[in-house]
Amino acid sequence: MIMKEDIQEILLSEEQIKETVEKLGRQISEDYRDKNLVLVSVLKGSVVFMADLMRNVTIPCEIDFMAVSSYGKGTKTSGNVKIIKDLDRSVEGMDLLIVEDILDSGRTLSYLREMLKQRNANSIKICTLLDKPERREADIKADYFGAVIPDAFAVGYGLDYAEKYRNLPYIGILKPSVYE
Ligand code: IMP
Ligand code: MG
Repeated sequence: MIMKEDIQEILLSEEQIKETVEKLGRQISEDYRDKNLVLVSVLKGSVVFMADLMRNVTIPCEIDFMAVSSYGKGTKTSGNVKIIKDLDRSVEGMDLLIVEDILDSGRTLSYLREMLKQRNANSIKICTLLDKPERREADIKADYFGAVIPDAFAVGYGLDYAEKYRNLPYIGILKPSVYE
């Protein structure tokens, strides 16, 4: 089976992703110059983005990881968020930047943000590579976003469908026939 055959259309090519991530890195490096930046990657979807983004951040920063599960393996978030792996250490006084692959209904990030707010960080902001504003249900928006995409199911560059396609180097729309 060849992954490419399941892709209907390319949303962001490798080159477009590279430019987008470089731009985000420059912006973040500027905005957090005098801060205690911690990049918080939400596993697993954001790993590829995180790995590229952190190398485009030119100021000192720390990284940490969280794993959350939103139950089920379909193409929609249930809203029932469960923490599978928490941060390694206290974030008191730190400036957290949550790094996500995609902001869809917003339920996952709004839950995470509320949870992290209780830990006395100096600031909490959100950086998402992709944003699907049409599908928003929670009252949340990204402080940094790479690209706005239409309401279709995207895979690649970390994004999965049923845990597959994360290793595609670009972002594409999955053919509906794959999940219908
Ligand atoms: P939300 O809670 O609905 O905003 O969903 C956020 C999570 O759902 C993301 O971190 C992804 O893991 C997953 N997700 C939402 N839309 C897509 C998509 O188009 N492709 C792959 N995963 C998605
Ligand atoms: Mg996911």
